[in-house]
Amino acid sequence: MNLLVTGGAGFIGSNFARYWSGAHPGDRVIAYDLLTYAGSRSNLDPATTLVEADVCDAAAAEAALRDHAVDVIVHFAAESHNSLAVLDPARFFRTNVVGTQTMLEAARAVGVERFHHVSTCEVYGDLALDAGPEEAFTETSPYRPRTPYNASKAGADHAVRAYAETYGLPVTITNCSNNYGPYQFPEKVIPLFVAQALDDQPLPLYESVRNRREWLHVLDHCRAIEAVLERGRVGETYHVGSGLERDIEQIADLVLDALGKPASLKTIVPDRPGHDRRYLLDCTKIRDELGWEPQIDFEDGLAGTVAWYAHRRDWWEPLKGRAPVVETNWK
Ligand SMILES: NC(=O)c1ccc[n+]([C@@H]2O[C@H](COP(=O)([O-])OP(=O)(O)OC[C@H]3O[C@@H](n4cnc5c(N)ncnc54)[C@H](O)[C@@H]3O)[C@@H](O)[C@H]2O)c1
Repeated sequence: MNLLVTGGAGFIGSNFARYWSGAHPGDRVIAYDLLTYAGSRSNLDPATTLVEADVCDAAAAEAALRDHAVDVIVHFAAESHNSLAVLDPARFFRTNVVGTQTMLEAARAVGVERFHHVSTCEVYGDLALDAGPEEAFTETSPYRPRTPYNASKAGADHAVRAYAETYGLPVTITNCSNNYGPYQFPEKVIPLFVAQALDDQPLPLYESVRNRREWLHVLDHCRAIEAVLERGRVGETYHVGSGLERDIEQIADLVLDALGKPASLKTIVPDRPGHDRRYLLDCTKIRDELGWEPQIDFEDGLAGTVAWYAHRRDWWEPLKGRAPVVETNWK
């Protein structure tokens, strides 16, 4: 099977490309990535083919599908940083909505066995901090995005469903909770905190320090997409999460403890506008239908991730200067 992995040089896409090549050595993985500030060739194994192109470029997308006889598209490519979306929303609607529609159109023109779209828990808006587990988002919860990033991902999800309903394109969608693991760009909270702590620099915590996220190791996300590609029902959406929630201060404390750094490095900064309080996914469907469940314990996964960044300064240090947003500048 030939898989085209859009966004394959980014955080989750590169982990997925590596995971798939290891688990399915008979398959060919082709990464399709524009190499924006968030994507790097060095995230990929040198043997992986990279098509350096834009998901908004219809001709390039169609050529890549034909040239590589692509059977399956796994669509990760996106602008992914909520903070940047506050400053430059147009870029998010272009890449995430128009880019997704362009890839769908190329898939329709060429014909593929599957178009798998990678989405997020954030399309449902946020939950109150005291909401009970019965309020967790299900696959049929209404979309209520609150930020330009969330809204652009919601628009992409709608485009994917429209192509399935209108043109019969064989699609699947996963909406996943917050990922952590190696190769995450150091603008995102866990690698940012580790990099700052290693250099004895302040860890910027949004002032709503009790806001929390549901954390999933990136390899568990990769295995969930594998389960959906292999056993998922065409046309369906599956939620992917761990149920494990930690707030921003707990994450900072875990990172500081792991590195033996003082709590005094925690520094409160203004919330970014539209800062969602909480998301929580109901993952009964993927667990019951496909038998998927997370395999990586959070404490172990986080310890391994902190150790990875501690040993891979060569990876993150050159990237830090490419981050377009400084989190303290909101007011
Ligand atoms: N990180 C998370 O916690 C998380 C959780 C749920 C869903 N997701 C979704 O997973 C996907 C991947 O997220 P990530 O964290 O790996 O993001 P990332 O920012 O690390 O990677 C995105 C990749 O897309 C590429 N890209 C951006 N614009 C492009 C364009 N116009 N054409 C081609 N390539 C382009 C970038 O170069 C980069 O390699 C996104 O769709 C995101 O919405 C992420």
